[in-house]
Amino acid sequence: MRLNEDVIIEGSKCILVPYTKDLVEQYHSWFVADPELLDATGSELLTIEEEYENQESWRTDESKLTFLIRDKTTSEQMLCGDINCFFSDFEKDQFVDCEESSPDGLVGEINIMIAEKASRRKGIAEEALEIFTQYMQKNIVNLRVLVAKIQMKNKASIRLFEKMGYVEFKRVECFEEIHYVLKLDPSCF
Ligand SMILES: CC(C)(COP(=O)(O)OP(=O)(O)OC[C@H]1O[C@@H](n2cnc3c(N)ncnc32)[C@H](O)[C@@H]1OP(=O)(O)O)[C@@H](O)C(=O)NCCC(=O)NCCS
Repeated sequence: MRLNEDVIIEGSKCILVPYTKDLVEQYHSWFVADPELLDATGSELLTIEEEYENQESWRTDESKLTFLIRDKTTSEQMLCGDINCFFSDFEKDQFVDCEESSPDGLVGEINIMIAEKASRRKGIAEEALEIFTQYMQKNIVNLRVLVAKIQMKNKASIRLFEKMGYVEFKRVECFEEIHYVLKLDPSCF
């Protein structure tokens, strides 16, 4: 979406910056260098042309919000990963046993990647999730809940999201995924 195209969010360990065209090659190179990232983030390897189209889609599609992450602890504040959210209609009966099924607000599917191994275990993912969530709570109207879809074998991500207060919501055995939720507006549940 265009909401954040001029927005920079600064924390103590990382800086969230808009995903602009000039950063596409760097973003693409992470997946080429480490195909495990594709698996962990549920992505597929794109050609560089497709990656440019993807960047444009993240910039303009009103259901998508993304930032790249800079590691503030390095002298050149190097790019180290990304954080993003995909929005869809919140329907209460997806989350609680009830009759209601009419859309009432939004669900955000959140994803984070610290691609640079040298930037891991510094608390960057934790801080990025905190400041990104605060930004969404201020700027995305009627955001009811965040969902993280994590592979059962991805212990690092499970520990991270549990630490951030997400709770297990369901297991999807056929995809070997656990879905974690963070309810932002408890009055809706
Ligand atoms: C998962 C990932 C985002 C963690 O990023 P990170 O910046 O290294 O995480 P942080 O340093 O902020 O760690 C915060 C908490 O996460 C958990 N954690 C992170 N890495 C961990 C690991 N390798 N093993 C166990 N727990 C881990 C810990 O609870 C940690 O808190 P602690 O330091 O107090 O123990 C990173 O490893 C990554 O990008 N992996 C590949 C892509 C991916 O799996 N993305 C998630 C898709 S759902």
